[in-house]
Amino acid sequence: MPAVTTPLNPSRPQPQSLHHANHHSAPEHAQDPTPRLVVANGAHAALRPEFIQQYHENSDALRAEIVAGLLRSQAGISPKFFYDVLGSRLFEAITDLPEYYPTRTEASIFASVAPAIAARAGSGCVLIDLGAGNCEKAARLFPSLQPAQYVALDISVDFLRGTLSGLQQQHPHIPMLGLGTDLCGPLDLPPNVRRGRRLLFYPGSSIGNFTPIDALALLQRLRAVTGHGDGVLIGVDLYKDADTLVAAYDDALGVTAAFNRNVLRNVNRILGSDFALEDWRHVASFDQQASRIQMHLEAERAVTVRWPDGERNFAKGERIHTEDSHKYRPEDFAILLESAGFTDPVSWTDPRGWFAVFHARG
Ligand code: AVJ
Repeated sequence: MPAVTTPLNPSRPQPQSLHHANHHSAPEHAQDPTPRLVVANGAHAALRPEFIQQYHENSDALRAEIVAGLLRSQAGISPKFFYDVLGSRLFEAITDLPEYYPTRTEASIFASVAPAIAARAGSGCVLIDLGAGNCEKAARLFPSLQPAQYVALDISVDFLRGTLSGLQQQHPHIPMLGLGTDLCGPLDLPPNVRRGRRLLFYPGSSIGNFTPIDALALLQRLRAVTGHGDGVLIGVDLYKDADTLVAAYDDALGVTAAFNRNVLRNVNRILGSDFALEDWRHVASFDQQASRIQMHLEAERAVTVRWPDGERNFAKGERIHTEDSHKYRPEDFAILLESAGFTDPVSWTDPRGWFAVFHARG
């Protein structure tokens, strides 16, 4: 990977300003195990990522949210509860499954159109990664985009610490900021996000978890922090035959089943409930009308689930809804972008037309 040098990147501040501490991140650096300083050539001390946790999850509110979902006549658990440590690992394993095409299809699109993306988005932008996860997808765009700063968002800044610290060692001259924030609220970018052209990056078809109405609202929140010269780059899974879709969410090895059932372990931990995993079976189906994969957990027998101050009976065959994953037609997603106020949408797809990457301007 070519090193970014000052002559290629004249807007980069001088090294001394790169270490200017901010009050939020300073104490957190103290806990960071990354070696303090790497001097590459005597002139440039390597950067260290900054971390800011903006969103503070309130465990009472989380418990109340889970209970409300369990007590609805159609019970549901939000997909955000999939991603505890084991759940995040299971999701990574899903991305390696032969049936789960989205991740590798999206990667192949990025690999072939990175120069076209850079031509439209412009290099030297502030790259804001809304679905950071393991930051791999954004990192693969660094050589083409040469970002002036990489800002990674996740609900929990703790999930970003190790990844960003490792990434920083591979890209010692790209300033990095990890932001613990919730995409469901207004996007409040702190002053640590540098000024300059912004590229908002939302890969992985995470936007599919929102209903189209909520996806529009999210896009409007993104539009609110983008202006002239800025843009969005979004990965979107496309409508296709039901067999391919269902196989991707009900793999032969049972990893997606484990991922889905693991949500009950996480709920037991957060809520103190007594879900027995052997009582619940993974179900994935495609709803043609709504163009979405739905995941449920189905009770294998009549069960009563108890938690402090509450309980619910489930009949045999009764289901808990855990995830929707919407599949778009390219023209519909372009309309969604324009409805949110973005302009000039373009998309790139793979030869099978299974996945699309969209760029649109602010
Ligand atoms: C991370 C939301 C994009 O919907 O495909 C994968 C999650 N769920 N297998 C998706 C998921 C089951 C995934 N997203």
